[in-house]
Amino acid sequence: MQKLAIQGGNPLHGEIFISGAKNAALPIMCASLLSADSLRLSNVPDLHDVATMRKLLQQMGVVVDVQGDCMNMQGGNVTKLEAPYDMVKTMRASVLVLGPLVARFGEAMVSLPGGCAIGSRPVDLHIKGLQAMGAEISIEHGYIHAKAKRLKGARIFFDIVSVTGTENLMMAAVLAEGVTVLENAAREPEVVDLANCLIEMGADIAGAGTDMITITGVDRLHGAEYSILPDRIESGTFLVAAAATGGNITLRNTSANILDNVLEKLQEAGAKIQTEADTIHLEMRQRPNAVNLRTAPYPAFPTDMQAQFMALNTIAQGSAMMVETIFENRFMHVQELRRLGAQIDVEGNTAVVRGVASLEGAMVMATDLRASASLVIAGLVAQGETVIDRIYHLDRGYAHIETKLTALGANIRRLK
Ligand code: UD1
Repeated sequence: MQKLAIQGGNPLHGEIFISGAKNAALPIMCASLLSADSLRLSNVPDLHDVATMRKLLQQMGVVVDVQGDCMNMQGGNVTKLEAPYDMVKTMRASVLVLGPLVARFGEAMVSLPGGCAIGSRPVDLHIKGLQAMGAEISIEHGYIHAKAKRLKGARIFFDIVSVTGTENLMMAAVLAEGVTVLENAAREPEVVDLANCLIEMGADIAGAGTDMITITGVDRLHGAEYSILPDRIESGTFLVAAAATGGNITLRNTSANILDNVLEKLQEAGAKIQTEADTIHLEMRQRPNAVNLRTAPYPAFPTDMQAQFMALNTIAQGSAMMVETIFENRFMHVQELRRLGAQIDVEGNTAVVRGVASLEGAMVMATDLRASASLVIAGLVAQGETVIDRIYHLDRGYAHIETKLTALGANIRRLK
């Protein structure tokens, strides 16, 4: 199993390019199932999760051609309407094939995701939504089996805001008969990016980015060209790493507009930030101030940035209270950060972090994607060497992370 070895202490300096957003690329790739014509994507990130989604779609019959960060996908010969357990268990976002398959082919077999490191993460809202649109759904041998002659538009209210739930039902509704209204829909920029791509393919969607999305079904979608939006979580992760190490960095090919809340918190921590259209510059000249935060659906503070800010708070001046409201059990990085000397108490969904003057390098283990990112940040500030085991989690969501960090002056290497 691969590991990362980091010699801490180097402030990050310099400039890097941000990749396309993982959480936009995955649903948009699934949109290729909705049409027989070519979907030509650009700014596709080079990630393990993207490769897994590509394999899954290829198994179904989608023809995929990758050249650099461009991916051409053609869904003219889809024959296998199934997402098998061995794929869904490694990547929960595989469930995003469910909506498009039922919408275009009238049938789908998708494995239930099962347990997941950051909580139980059910898919009941995806299933209920499809049922409201007229799909017959049974659970057989751990698989969701969905059938429908043609889905019908419906009014669907989400009890809990769900990102992939909103995306799955939006993709189902674009080919349904009549109008679908999604209420209490997710407003994440990645939902808007998917909607924009579907609109390019001929879908009729209004209200994406608000909590009420109205989709009027059409008979067919056509091909399109689409560029994936920049990854706001990758951007945020590098900014926190620079702030924690007292660095000075510039991110290119990003977007400050979708990072409002994260940039505000970094400023509260003492960072100086300047933004232009697709550029963010951050400079940190002081020991960070501790920042309180509470995760919630967009536009509030993202759960996918909680672990990285915890790493920042471990070496901050003062104490911070951090509340996780989206996922149960998303504090697994706490015990690893403690191994580096962090002082953190957890009670239910609240963590109290008391800043210490410095961390000390140690052996730690990555437990999930964003937890891994927090360990990398902690390793960059810790004195001496930190070795992070199980970094396959990191490769799922960060493109070429050690190359980008090395370009910023970090002392980091991969041990095979
Ligand atoms: C997506 C993101 C993930 C991010 C999360 C929250 C992708 C591929 N992944 O995950 O990076 O951390 O949004 O911003 O985009 N829930 C139910 N029933 C359902 C669906 C969800 O109870 O049917 C609950 C979940 O357990 C969780 C909450 O709703 O407590 C939000 O989850 P959701 O937004 O669905 O997360 P994902 O879409 O899986």
